Amino acid sequence: MNHPTDSLYDVIERRRDVRAEFTGSPVPDDVLQRVLGAAHRAPSVGMSQPWDFVLVRDPETRASFRDHVRTERASFAASLPPERRASFDRIKVEGICESSLGVVVTHSQTRGGPHVLGRHAIADAGLYSTVLAIQNLWLAATAEGLGLGWVSFYREDVLRQLLGIPADVRPVAWLCLGTVSHLETVPDLERHGWRARRPLADAIHEDTWQAREQDHA
Ligand SMILES: Cc1cc2nc3c(=O)[nH]c(=O)nc-3n(C[C@H](O)[C@H](O)[C@H](O)COP(=O)(O)O)c2cc1C
Repeated sequence: MNHPTDSLYDVIERRRDVRAEFTGSPVPDDVLQRVLGAAHRAPSVGMSQPWDFVLVRDPETRASFRDHVRTERASFAASLPPERRASFDRIKVEGICESSLGVVVTHSQTRGGPHVLGRHAIADAGLYSTVLAIQNLWLAATAEGLGLGWVSFYREDVLRQLLGIPADVRPVAWLCLGTVSHLETVPDLERHGWRARRPLADAIHEDTWQAREQDHA
């Protein structure tokens, strides 16, 4: 469902990380192209445009990645104290096979050559750019009535090998993208008692950092 009259603020408010609400119906190609087009219009340091998008529809590839994510989930679960473990056990961390497709966003630090304007002092500025493309993609998907879930429970080398990604390119995210029954209004992690939102006032500092107790929470 499209919401053409929505303001950007409405879309930002409605955006959710989705795992359980995927229906698996195909995403029409024109919609997918618009969403990827929004990602591709992100700002980038020195206009390096260091991102690429691998569209993963093959069920076997997705099942194989899902199995790897299950292993990583189990190893994180094993590291938790009992009360955190109980909360984590209620949380679904991926919708890899249930979503319509996977979009793997990669980052190429060599794109743009050695003289990327604005990256000389901060090497990570390239990676920031790729992450902005992901945020554009996420908001555009929301505006189109789609759901998106970011999966980071994986080892980069495993995903690189699974998709034939070159050694000098980093897979930054596996995004589960697709049609959804609905979008939740409260983040899953909050609903399941894992962690709540910080008040905006706690994130704002005036003139200097001025350390406060809540900075560490
Ligand atoms: C870099 C990054 C990695 C994430 N990795 C995962 C993940 O592996 N599994 C998952 O279920 N959610 C993942 N998330 C989603 C967050 O848990 C979610 O954004 C957060 O709880 C706030 O919920 P909301 O996005 O619905 O507002 C990730 C989000 C980001 C930005």
